[in-house]
Amino acid sequence: MGKVIAVAQQKGGAGKTMLTAQLAVVFAESLKVAVLDIDPQGSLTIWGKLRASTVKAKHNLDVHAASGWRMSTELDKLKAAYDLVLIDTPPVIDTDARRAIRSADLVLIPLNPAPPDLWAAEGTLKLAAEEKRPVALVFNRAPAASRLRKRMEAEIAARGILLFGTSLGNRAGYSNAFADGLGVTEASPTSPAALELQALAQEIHVKFRL
Ligand SMILES: Nc1ncnc2c1ncn2[C@@H]1O[C@H](COP(=O)(O)OP(=O)(O)OP(=O)(O)O)[C@@H](O)[C@H]1O
Ligand SMILES: [Mg+2]
Repeated sequence: MGKVIAVAQQKGGAGKTMLTAQLAVVFAESLKVAVLDIDPQGSLTIWGKLRASTVKAKHNLDVHAASGWRMSTELDKLKAAYDLVLIDTPPVIDTDARRAIRSADLVLIPLNPAPPDLWAAEGTLKLAAEEKRPVALVFNRAPAASRLRKRMEAEIAARGILLFGTSLGNRAGYSNAFADGLGVTEASPTSPAALELQALAQEIHVKFRL
């Protein structure tokens, strides 16, 4: 059975879709990977279509979309056929997002290192705790160092929540690659964005054996 990473965060624009796509491409270098788009906005599905039409997409990965009762069936099918399924969820904990979190081997929460993003993550953290699902935070669009970032790190550590050591910076490379249906590791493999993303994937692999 394949493992499931649900990327969730109620804060809109936190980087869920971007992170799902980017990680999927990195993991697809060594694993059989599918992504499941359960967000009605469908951005990841559009990315998948762009991906299917570019010769620059080096790694095979399948993009599916599902909602409602179809979602659980689709997820079961994908888990049976792939090593890893990444789910991009909407910025709201609806029934589908709940299902995604319940079925996750890792609930991955991207957040800007600022209090409103952590406040917005509380619902996801609570649900993951209730469902006893492993959860981890990752800073996205993070400055390398700032007083606020340090404060956030301390607060997260004090609550005993796992925060990945690797954070993602605010880099145009992510958006540019996404716009072309690519991961940044395909579009510019030696860029700082590609390197930090690989480091994050490695951390996920080591800590969660995914
Ligand atoms: N680290 C980053 N550097 C630069 N741009 C980023 C970064 N992360 C995300 N973005 C950009 O920010 C915007 C919002 O990101 P994204 O769509 O992934 O957020 P989201 O959490 O999925 O939003 P929604 O809640 O609406 O689904 C996108 O244009 C994306 O390309
Ligand atoms: Mg999104």
